[in-house]
Amino acid sequence: MYRILHKEALSEVTKLMVIAAPEVARKARPGQFVIVRIDERGERIPLTIADYDREAGTVTIIFQEVGKTTMHLGTLEPGDELATFTGPLGHPTEIENYGTVVCVGGGTSIAIIFPIARALKEAGNRVISIIGARNKDLLFWEDRMRAVSDELIVCTDDGSYGRKALVTEPLRELLEQRDGEIARVWAIGPAIMMKFCALTTKPFGVKTIVSLNTIMIDGTGMCGGCRVQLTDGAKFVCVDGPEFDAHQVDWDLLLARQRFYLEEEKLAVERWRHQCQLEAQLTAAGA
Ligand code: FES
Repeated sequence: MYRILHKEALSEVTKLMVIAAPEVARKARPGQFVIVRIDERGERIPLTIADYDREAGTVTIIFQEVGKTTMHLGTLEPGDELATFTGPLGHPTEIENYGTVVCVGGGTSIAIIFPIARALKEAGNRVISIIGARNKDLLFWEDRMRAVSDELIVCTDDGSYGRKALVTEPLRELLEQRDGEIARVWAIGPAIMMKFCALTTKPFGVKTIVSLNTIMIDGTGMCGGCRVQLTDGAKFVCVDGPEFDAHQVDWDLLLARQRFYLEEEKLAVERWRHQCQLEAQLTAAGA
């Protein structure tokens, strides 16, 4: 069993948890993920490792409460335990000294870009980071990102904090103003954001890496739900990724595939909410 040591609300729908998992913490590297199961009969959910502390033997995960299992996970408290916490899985980020790099993180994925930006900085890169969210309330870890970046640009879609812009705007400006200086871009966030980051960098010929962890379903290599079409063939995100060359991804197909299970997820959330209401009523009735 894996004990929850700390829980924090980063926004209305985003939670952070620190889990006691020494074996995972010992081997974890930026870009990798874990598979979590709340109980023995629970759904397996892949979550990217947001941070790890090898000495303390802890791993930090961040998740958005968007589906049945993540909503259930969000109700757990420090002291509760998870049945399984398997990892680290997936290929780690290729960290080298590339020169000047740009790290773009959108929404919850700020948590995913953070350990990558930190590792790139530690490897001697000049790190320019861009973080963005729909509004101020959904932004988090500005301080952490600033600490590992030589420059940090903060954007919100509605202008409630930082610059009123989509992350692609400062990304395009950087590429235009520092022609030839930027060696590589990492862009991690919602699929639509990654698609437009890829379209922004492509004309400049700057290699761009995206993490497609959000399209994984069970993370086992068996369900086929994470199949992604690249220019050199089909790959599985959980086996071959989660990071890929953004300029090779068939984004329109990926966005269409993301809509496949929306109806099933909606039904699962409704069933879970109904079950919670029943349990609350039984508790109130003293049953
Ligand atoms: S998530 Fe099921 S095969 Fe990759």
